[in-house]
Amino acid sequence: MTQLPGLLTSTSLLDEAIRKDFPILDRTVHDGKKLVYLDNAATSQKPRQVLDALNEYYERYNANVHRGVHVLAEEATALYEGARDKVAAFINAPSRDEVIFTKNASESLNLVANMLGWADEPYRVDHETEIVITEMEHHSNIVPWQLLAQRTGAKLKWFGLTDDGRLDLSNIDEIITEKTKIVSFVLVSNILGTVNPVEAIVRRAQEVGALVCIDASQAAPHMPMDVQALQADFVAFTGHKMCGPTGIGVLWGRQELLEDLPPFLGGGEMIETVSMHSSTYAPAPHKFEAGTPPIAQAVGLGAAIDYLSAIGMDKILAHEHALTEYAVKRLGEVPDLRIIGPTTAEDRGAAISFTLGDIHPHDVGQVLDEQGIAVRVGHHCARPVCLRYGIPATTRASFYLYSTPAEIDALVDGLEHVRNFFG
Ligand code: ALA
Repeated sequence: MTQLPGLLTSTSLLDEAIRKDFPILDRTVHDGKKLVYLDNAATSQKPRQVLDALNEYYERYNANVHRGVHVLAEEATALYEGARDKVAAFINAPSRDEVIFTKNASESLNLVANMLGWADEPYRVDHETEIVITEMEHHSNIVPWQLLAQRTGAKLKWFGLTDDGRLDLSNIDEIITEKTKIVSFVLVSNILGTVNPVEAIVRRAQEVGALVCIDASQAAPHMPMDVQALQADFVAFTGHKMCGPTGIGVLWGRQELLEDLPPFLGGGEMIETVSMHSSTYAPAPHKFEAGTPPIAQAVGLGAAIDYLSAIGMDKILAHEHALTEYAVKRLGEVPDLRIIGPTTAEDRGAAISFTLGDIHPHDVGQVLDEQGIAVRVGHHCARPVCLRYGIPATTRASFYLYSTPAEIDALVDGLEHVRNFFG
């Protein structure tokens, strides 16, 4: 970057050379406008290293896993299982067998809800029990629990939100009670950017013997992850937001739970034996991976983890924190702009939602797009948050390791243009 804005220090920013790893960032749109990609909370771009790994997999190793005796089958299996090792190390899992590959974070969360829905005591969710979520969840951490509650008669409860976009935990002892079977909440909100106080929630859940499931979709790409330090029972995230391909998600679960809980999907490779009357199941994680898994996608996620780890998740976090501080300050200078969520960079991630006067977010997004600036508009699959704050939708800018202060300046200039356009 040519000039560092006063607030930022060169030590908190990653080298701009990182951008060269991402071919798509060189693109222009709308007749030669430089692409400013600020929709990273929806999906991240992919570095050359991940694209190469995917290509190499298909060019040299493609075969089905765990099934063949031929060379390609063995090599593909080694790559797929190697990706599991990389995920386990990335999140500090005590065992590689605690890492289940899924299609995405939504599937991971649905898997937990269904495991509990079919479970026997002591995990069984029924009409005498309660499920706890929060008002800031993505739909993927609301709907599976609504479905489970409808099916079992369990009561669904949730933490509300404060006016500044944080969880209201003032009534934590009434929300999480002896009846609570599971508390499932997001670590970093995709719409508000809030980083939630895991410790306080986990402590209360443990007091009453409830399980804890954490949606880390907007955390795993941006900060060091340690599932042991989180002290949760399940942690879900997705590959495509962390430089990996689409079609690959992860559910980490504590080993003894994965041993005790029943499978959800049945099919090939998740069994030990099958007769026409009944089946027995393979040990975890295979018990939860029926059918041909997303092999190339897992290999691509492994390459993404190598890429992010080589840079260092602590450096990525520091970079995004500096950018977020800068963005909050610059957006604060735009007249009529209201940030929906925490208005300081403390305990917030790099996704910032806002409204701009009474200009509809879809109009904001369209005029920004015409200038080459990609943001997301809408309710961001977190509609209850919009209802809570009395707004139909927001515009959301979200940053990643390759985002720059100059892009934030471009956004602010773009918003000025939007204001002029709409008078
Ligand atoms: N969950 C993704 C987002 O927040 C798609 O945009």
